Amino acid sequence: MADLNERDAKLVQYLSEAYGKERELETALQAHIAMTAKGPYKKRLQQHLKETKAHAREVERRIKQLGGGGQTLQSAVGKLTAVAKGPLHAIRGDGEQEKMLKNAKTEYFNEHEEIATYLAIETLAEKLSDSETAKLARAIRREEERMASFLAGQIKSLTGAVVREDIPVSLRRAAKPRRKKAKKASAKQSAAKKTTRRKGPAAKKAGGARKRATKKRPATKKRAAKR
Ligand SMILES: [Fe+2]
Ligand SMILES: [Fe+2]
Repeated sequence: MADLNERDAKLVQYLSEAYGKERELETALQAHIAMTAKGPYKKRLQQHLKETKAHAREVERRIKQLGGGGQTLQSAVGKLTAVAKGPLHAIRGDGEQEKMLKNAKTEYFNEHEEIATYLAIETLAEKLSDSETAKLARAIRREEERMASFLAGQIKSLTGAVVREDIPVSLRRAAKPRRKKAKKASAKQSAAKKTTRRKGPAAKKAGGARKRATKKRPATKKRAAKR
């Protein structure tokens, strides 16, 4: 990378970070797939694993086209795979649904990190007039966004499953403090009565009298001044 100018070096640096992240997520996704029961969620994870591998390949190709690669790429992977947490996820939570929920939350977080990474690459490339890198980053970002929105739905349905698995039906409804409600209602009623009373004909009369008294006062003062 010694021969690269500042522009290309910066593009290669950002792309290498993205590459390292993709490789790290490959490991995490494989671990999650192994722990996930068959069904649409597992299928979507498998599909995204394929996408993740393709992202790594495409990013690597672009890095090489820009004149990077070799040691830079290897160190990016080395740093990130060292902290890959995939296998640790196997011990999370008690219930099956809860484990899957925790994994889905981690995946959701990871997708958003990728979205941020590719948004930065896209913006950097646009500012440096590298339309090819910008196009690649945009296309990958859209796939990460689709995965993130699938995961948002998955988090909701898995949370529902945790409730069904762990919480008895009788404890799912909030206990309603009936007495408090009754008190509130009677307080509202008496407040309404007071208002009606104030607005009744007698109150109107009193109000009118008060107004007249107020109007008369300045006239009396004027007369007093004249005298
Ligand atoms: Fe990706
Ligand atoms: Fe992803």
